[in-house]
Amino acid sequence: MYKVVKCICIKNLREAKGESEMIKKIAVLTSGGDAPGMNAAVRAVVRTAISKGMEVYGVRRGYVGLLTGDIFQMDERSVTDIIHRGGTILYTARCSEFRTDEGVSKARAKCEELGIEGLVVIGGDGSFRGAADLSAKGMLCIGIPGTIDNDIACTDYTIGFDTAMNTAMELVDKLRDTSQSHDRISVVEVMGRGAGHIAVNTGIACGATDIITQEVPYDINAIANTMLEKKAKGKENFVVIVAEGVGHSVEIAKELELRTGIEARATILGHVQRGGNPTLRDRVEATKMGNYAVELLEQGIGNRVVALKDNQLVDYDIQDALAMKKPYDEKLHRMAETIAF
Ligand code: F6P
Repeated sequence: MYKVVKCICIKNLREAKGESEMIKKIAVLTSGGDAPGMNAAVRAVVRTAISKGMEVYGVRRGYVGLLTGDIFQMDERSVTDIIHRGGTILYTARCSEFRTDEGVSKARAKCEELGIEGLVVIGGDGSFRGAADLSAKGMLCIGIPGTIDNDIACTDYTIGFDTAMNTAMELVDKLRDTSQSHDRISVVEVMGRGAGHIAVNTGIACGATDIITQEVPYDINAIANTMLEKKAKGKENFVVIVAEGVGHSVEIAKELELRTGIEARATILGHVQRGGNPTLRDRVEATKMGNYAVELLEQGIGNRVVALKDNQLVDYDIQDALAMKKPYDEKLHRMAETIAF
């Protein structure tokens, strides 16, 4: 079914009918897990749309708001003072009703009722699946990759990744202080249910002795033995970064303590990584992506995901984007191991 919706372009349809080709009303929503920088993207969508003479609407709580009609008109002042704030002023949610065909039809009907012709969806893969379903029903949808995990295959970068890694890095630095004072092993679990990108980068930035991610098999005995060798050569404390997808951080700490005799503590950083003021990189990327998304809608183009590729903004068909697989940088992982003395 999706093959027919490769790239929806209503401009041509309108021209054929002799109607004005301009998209007049668009909406924006944030969906799935929040990510620092989402507000900057919302701001860019709103301000770009207004600058092009469009009306722009905010949808609260993702697809839930589309179903319940929790939709309000935004103006340039609605997005004042938000570029530096984490979270999302539009709130976010995961919506099970939207996974049904009835739910998608209901949302489509709501958009039609309000005259909304284009929708910008800021979120992750799950949110893009919803956008693809809505596109298949004739709605112009553009996805913007927003998730701290950087696990969207079509893009080199997702909004929130940089802030989350910097937050994790600062927290691990603090743990390292206490780990050093107590000659301990500090096992730190960072977010990333489906991918170890946060873990590997945070591990490198914090000089971790070991990085454990779901993509690279690990051997607890080998890690413990290497720790003992390093201890024999004078190393006094150890930081082990574990990706959330691996789990068992508490058990890993216990196992390491048991095998090495070195006191170990586990810390799960959790949702604190999703909050906080976005970094410069997240604000800038989010702003560029928000602007680009509206430019696509302006041309009557839908069913696309905005992506950063080799430092250039590009866009992909949503289904093609969802079918892509993002490689894990195993070389980076191995490099980190090589220099972790
Ligand atoms: O947004 C991505 C993410 O933070 C994952 O890293 C994590 O596994 C998940 O969301 C947590 O989701 P929730 O907020 O529903 O607990």
